Amino acid sequence: MEARRSLSRPYSNCVVTPIRNLKKPYFLSLLSSSSSSPSSSQTVSPNRVSFKTLYPISSKSESFINRLQCRNSSHELNAVSDDIEDPRTGIRRKNLAVFVSGGGSNFRSIHEAVLRGLVHGDIAVLVTNKPGCGGAEYARDNNIPVILFPKMKEKPESLSANDLVTALRRYKVDFILLAGYLKLIPIELVQAYPRSILNIHPSLLPAFGGKGYYGMKVHQAVIASGARYSGPTIHFVDEHYDTGRILAQRVVPVVANDTSDELAARVLQQEHQLYVEVATALCEDRIVWREDGVPLIRSKENPNDYS
Ligand code: GRF
Repeated sequence: MEARRSLSRPYSNCVVTPIRNLKKPYFLSLLSSSSSSPSSSQTVSPNRVSFKTLYPISSKSESFINRLQCRNSSHELNAVSDDIEDPRTGIRRKNLAVFVSGGGSNFRSIHEAVLRGLVHGDIAVLVTNKPGCGGAEYARDNNIPVILFPKMKEKPESLSANDLVTALRRYKVDFILLAGYLKLIPIELVQAYPRSILNIHPSLLPAFGGKGYYGMKVHQAVIASGARYSGPTIHFVDEHYDTGRILAQRVVPVVANDTSDELAARVLQQEHQLYVEVATALCEDRIVWREDGVPLIRSKENPNDYS
């Protein structure tokens, strides 16, 4: 049921065949019912599209791109590109890509918010450099396609930066949310998605950011510095680590006898709330750029208020 909700919205004319409890990495492909022979797992009806797993990640990356290209392409890409507008606001529903390298608790909280109808968008695809990480496992359990990036010699199915841009375009991705993705985002992606890539960092940037500041190292450095406050920052992504424009922050106290684990847990709790709030604003077109290049969030309740 969850999978149906999360996948079906952008595909208004499609039938989604859920793939249950797949523990192995997989790719999804769109198969036209008119161009493929029916199987018991496919729903067949004119103008409908079924999803079907092809095989675990083991094939070459170039064929990945081809598999995303629908067999009966004009018909099926049209089905995918249907723009769904909120009838009240006229705002188009967005497609999100989430990038993770680890446990994926932020990814999970955003996905849960999508399922609860809080976010005017859907998670179209998960991108990871660690196919066995908790975030990738959660994606597979929830029938969200998984892409392996960056290119790795030992993983022929992994994608280069240019192939990733092509794949994200095929998924009609509007925004990219980095949620614990530890690799630098290449310039090809930054240029392909201007003002459309966000990252969450577990300190109040610009303090305790940059190369080497990740995971527990951030919280250890905060405690060692004697700072009395920390908290998550969500910022737009440029081609460097943690230097893009700050969009949202939340303050968390650092207490006298804090351990890095305790501080991390306190910050993470706020991260989950903040990322959902920001994803909600993003999908409702409520990000406004001030003349000096600072991004602001317009309040939903009072459109004259910005934070
Ligand atoms: C979070 O602390 C986030 O700020 C940082 O990486 C961590 C990811 O945690 N970028 P999770 O994988 O979402 O649980």
